[in-house]
Amino acid sequence: MRALQGIGRLYRCLPEGGQSAVHPIDDAVLVWDGPLVEWVGRRTELPARFGGLPMEDAGGRLLIPGLVDCHTHLAFAGWRADEFEQKLRGVGYLEIARAGGGILSTVAKTRATPSELLADRCLGFLTQMRTLGVTAVEVKTGYGLSLEHELRTLEVYRQVAAQVPQTIVPTLLAAHTVPPEYRDRRDRYVDVVVNEIIPAVAERKLASFCDVFVEDTAFSVAEGERILRAGKAAGMGAKLHADQITSCGGAELAAKVAAVSADHLEKISSAGIAAMAVAGVVAVSLPIASLYLNQAPLKARHLIDAGVLVAVATDFNPGSAPSFDLPLAMMLACTMQRMTPAEVLKGATQIAARAIGLETVGSLAPGKRADFALIEAESIEHWLYHFRPNACARTVVAGQG
Ligand code: NIG
Ligand code: FE
Repeated sequence: MRALQGIGRLYRCLPEGGQSAVHPIDDAVLVWDGPLVEWVGRRTELPARFGGLPMEDAGGRLLIPGLVDCHTHLAFAGWRADEFEQKLRGVGYLEIARAGGGILSTVAKTRATPSELLADRCLGFLTQMRTLGVTAVEVKTGYGLSLEHELRTLEVYRQVAAQVPQTIVPTLLAAHTVPPEYRDRRDRYVDVVVNEIIPAVAERKLASFCDVFVEDTAFSVAEGERILRAGKAAGMGAKLHADQITSCGGAELAAKVAAVSADHLEKISSAGIAAMAVAGVVAVSLPIASLYLNQAPLKARHLIDAGVLVAVATDFNPGSAPSFDLPLAMMLACTMQRMTPAEVLKGATQIAARAIGLETVGSLAPGKRADFALIEAESIEHWLYHFRPNACARTVVAGQG
């Protein structure tokens, strides 16, 4: 059993209380046993049975639940700095995609890269993410786009998950875009996803979720519904890339299929917001992508006011969000989306965990995983206001670290 005292303020981020309730405790003590939290509360209320425990000292820092990055495209080869430059000159994201750049150029590079190299890159990213306080990460496929390469990416994730302390949640995004082999037979590719890829992934239990990019250059609402229903029938929860570039009914589809989350949503309609609220779908905001694509940010205030929970994630990928810095995304959720630091902390911990179906992480309470980060700041307001290269002084994952 281990214990930590000298915590300036500890934020429990319990599920109750909605977006802004982060349940702070001043002058707190945290006790954990192996990978799980045993007790959390005020130092003055520490039960006598823990009195004899040696105490580690947090030096007055903040303690937050380990951050949860609930939307990444972690396994990809190469980068796309050339497109970054084109976009700065005003060439549009969809225009680049139609010219064979964008996602498809990363697909070509990823297919040509050996699994060991892909795994090494993922391990490198995850190690750096841990130093930022990130203890759980959702990882999507979507740069394979064939039975062989989608399975291979998921096998890479399985191998990587066994080598890092963080919780890794794999998502099948075979419907990221139509691969070049099927350019003129897109219906046939949807058949492959539904009849071949989803069953093979389900049989090997390689993915928890099935995701679809519903957009002009990717998949229609009808195709998305077919794929997500097939994923659900095979035991995978539904997630969507929805209403990112155009308002095309993605949020409404997320509500219709009872998706666990709808992500991006910069162009969400009022009807989409209302439908998500009724269906209890989490909105995953990705402000780094909005920033890089020079888009108006997500209307987070409308969503929160309508009763939709808003998570915050990086969208780490080589095109629209080439950064895995979740605290950066959190600062941008404040400045661009006008969310308060408390709303953002809840969105990158408990609500993010909910967006990937994890109940044991994202909050600090007895029985939850002892995943937490010590932050060098006097409050979360100060942390997200005074943005620094890394304010995280220590990360503990499953009680270790
Ligand atoms: O989430 N929107 C679709 N997919 C990614 C971009 C992937 C890429 O450009 O490689 C996203 O922004
Ligand atoms: Fe994405």
